[in-house]
Amino acid sequence: MKQEQKFTRHIACIGAGYVGGPTMAMIAARCPQYKVTVVDSNAVRIAAWNSEGLPIYEPGLLELVKKARGRNLFFSTDIEAAIAGAEIIFVSVNTPTKTFGEGAGRAADLQYWEKTARTIAKVATSDKIIVEKSTLPVRTAAAMARILNNNDKGVRFEVLSNPEFLAEGTAIADLDKPDRVLIGARETDEGQKARDAIVEIYANWVPRERIVTSNVWSAELSKLVANAILAQRISSINSVSALCEKTDADVMEVSRAVGMDSRIGPRFLRPSIGFGGSCFKKDILNLVYICDSYGLNEVARYWEGVVAMNDYQKRRFVQNMISAMFNTVAGKRIALFGFAFKANTGDTRESPAIDVAKQLVEEQAKVVITDPKALDNAKVDLASYLSKIELAVDPYTAAKAAHGIAVCTEWEEYRTLNYHAIFETMEKPAFVFDGRNILDHRKLYEIGFNVFPIGKPALKHF
Ligand code: NAD
Ligand code: UGA
Repeated sequence: MKQEQKFTRHIACIGAGYVGGPTMAMIAARCPQYKVTVVDSNAVRIAAWNSEGLPIYEPGLLELVKKARGRNLFFSTDIEAAIAGAEIIFVSVNTPTKTFGEGAGRAADLQYWEKTARTIAKVATSDKIIVEKSTLPVRTAAAMARILNNNDKGVRFEVLSNPEFLAEGTAIADLDKPDRVLIGARETDEGQKARDAIVEIYANWVPRERIVTSNVWSAELSKLVANAILAQRISSINSVSALCEKTDADVMEVSRAVGMDSRIGPRFLRPSIGFGGSCFKKDILNLVYICDSYGLNEVARYWEGVVAMNDYQKRRFVQNMISAMFNTVAGKRIALFGFAFKANTGDTRESPAIDVAKQLVEEQAKVVITDPKALDNAKVDLASYLSKIELAVDPYTAAKAAHGIAVCTEWEEYRTLNYHAIFETMEKPAFVFDGRNILDHRKLYEIGFNVFPIGKPALKHF
């Protein structure tokens, strides 16, 4: 009991995933005066959070967790105890795209979210602030408040929106120095009081001018819009990459020239084989669904185009490979360099490499995949293809006897491999398809490779 009294606040977080774990680790590390308990229904995940082998890979995460774990940061499966003991509850459960019924393939599946609300309503015996950390459709907080406050115990809940903007691979740096923290609250006395309590938490390490407040609906919608606009920039530059390949313009030069306009800015204009990750596609499709459900069909079609362009880019990459390799890849060994959806993460959710691998297998290529962190996930993603693919930890092994290499993830280590040695072991003519434009194309060409970057003239020996 004495032990409990030393903490000035008791915070719980439901959902110990990519967001809940790192976010709460940051709060606990920066605020030793608060007790932070992260709970999840997945016992395996919680056990991993309590071990040296955390369930997710993020640079700097283990150090951060170790700093606070057992001191004021706790991971547990006892959801009810965590709810009962906290004044502030962050909810960070998954909100995937619905796969069934009304809105299937587009709407957010809110079943995990609603289940959490019902558990909180059932267990709580004192007033609480509930913070939406998950990404949710605009106006979800209204439904949440209705479920929570419809109790006969006289317990009141104030629902806030505090969406998370961290990106995987840089989660700890993003949490440490966020561009902004957004807190949406009702414009009532209770709403503003709850808002101040959340502002106070972040103000422990985030400069006050970076903590932005708004109404609840703006906060919920801002999260969807931020992801939609980031993805839109990638689809824009990827669409231009296709035009560059037809005109001998160089998309890297175009991207640089365009991005130097201070009104546009240089970030998120890197051409690629398409964006991946658990959220861009899901959140845009959710935005599309919301727009359609309000009868804003033109708005919906506009945002749908961002996803359509992304699908096109993935298909186009494989089509380019086939056409470059004399219109057939059947029986040819092709090494995919990278399988994660981006560098510095083992996450493969919606990774464009999944589509590339599947399309190549359909074309009867012998696909071999290498990745420093994502091979375990690759096994799961390609479970029904495992008899037709090979996984190799070592990129040199993957490339051995291959006809082509396709760079799918921008891992730094792929820049500095010994491509002379790799070339020697490959079938000739040897091809490199640089889906991330990270390699030294001129040097590869001089070694003897036929090089096909994204959105740049190919360098061919024939
Ligand atoms: P995740 O799948 O990694 O984690 C969610 C966790 O919630 C899982 O461990 C699951 O077991 C748990 N859970 C689900 N229902 C539960 C319940 N009723 N009780 C207890 N635990 C439950 O998801 P994530 O990537 O952390 O994303 C969470 C939310 O944050 C999503 O809405 C996502 O859109 C958003 N988001 C994600 C990122 C990201 O980089 N991954 C960034 C910003 C926002
Ligand atoms: C993205 C957003 O950047 C975060 O702000 C947001 O919180 C998060 O989604 C979320 O809501 O889940 P994340 O998906 O982790 O973060 O990673 P990004 O760095 O945004 O990359 C997404 C994808 O776009 C990757 O496949 C990446 O390779 C690709 N990308 C990114 C490009 O193809 N070109 C670029 O210029 C930038």
